Amino acid sequence: MALLDVTDLSINIHGIRPLDGISFSVDKGEILGIVGESGSGKSLTALSVMGLLPLIGGRIERGRVTFDGGDLTNLPEAQFRKLRGKRIAFITQNPMTSLDPVMRVGAQIDQMATLHLGLGPKDAQARSIEIMEKLRIPEAATIYHHYPHQLSGGMKQRIVIAMALAADPDLIIADEPTTALDVTIQAQIVDLMAEMVRERGVALILITHDMGVVAQICDRVVVLYAGRIAESNKVEAIFAAPRHPYTSALIRCIPREDTAPGSLIGIPGAVPSVAHYPAGCRFHPRCARSNAQCSSIVPPLIQPPSGGELACHAPEGAQ
Ligand SMILES: Nc1ncnc2c1ncn2[C@@H]1O[C@H](COP(=O)(O)OP(=O)(O)O)[C@@H](O)[C@H]1O
Ligand SMILES: [Mg+2]
Repeated sequence: MALLDVTDLSINIHGIRPLDGISFSVDKGEILGIVGESGSGKSLTALSVMGLLPLIGGRIERGRVTFDGGDLTNLPEAQFRKLRGKRIAFITQNPMTSLDPVMRVGAQIDQMATLHLGLGPKDAQARSIEIMEKLRIPEAATIYHHYPHQLSGGMKQRIVIAMALAADPDLIIADEPTTALDVTIQAQIVDLMAEMVRERGVALILITHDMGVVAQICDRVVVLYAGRIAESNKVEAIFAAPRHPYTSALIRCIPREDTAPGSLIGIPGAVPSVAHYPAGCRFHPRCARSNAQCSSIVPPLIQPPSGGELACHAPEGAQ
């Protein structure tokens, strides 16, 4: 059984359905990428798994979320609170949403181990500094005593990753953890996260809009578009032979070495808003392969012989 299983998840927020029939699973020790442009439903997927939908007035209206055999679907908050941080850690794009500005960073990492693992203060401190060193925070024993505002964005995000790791969780969900950082720092931090989770056998769901990040560390990837799955597969297979035109478009968006700095690479058009999802395949207005079927019939999510899942009437490679 997978560590986390999301089956046919649909959510409702104030009468709209921004996620429609999402399924995926993550095994222990696996790194799953969830990729899609802004507005695809990535963050809402994370919030659903973390039991945080009620905070924004949402709820799961269909489907199931199970974690380590237990049903998390609409689990009461009091029970969810026992899992959050301890067994499932959440890393967001902005480290300041996780850091307390008036508390020294070391103490914030310690807290995860004292609270969730019952460690004494001395043991927690030694462990925190060890994790900080593994995350290549220079002079970790000094930085331990710093406040968040004394650190750069990249260092703050490393502290948040250290906090997530300190509780020894089974699963980490990282929602665009490096998007706010410089490109060179981004790659380093993504590599460090991958190294740490692989070493510890922690499962990681890495949410990103960047297929380059997926290629860098993920084992499998789910491609989301406008609240539905376009395609999922092993990362090698996705890059060797993308089948959904949206996946190909995302791959073409990866900046290359000869890409001029600051030049905008994107897919023409934009992800429609929830109120304006088109009929049929939601990607069809932006798709060069679109045919008459695509604009009227929702492509079913099938399991093709080439592996994973695919929802497309006119996949690449087909005639
Ligand atoms: N709290 C909310 N209430 C209503 N609609 C929302 C809310 N949060 C997100 N949405 C809508 O749901 C869609 C997916 O959002 P989100 O999961 O944040 O996308 P992503 O993280 O992929 O950029 C967007 O169209 C967004 O406008
Ligand atoms: Mg998001």
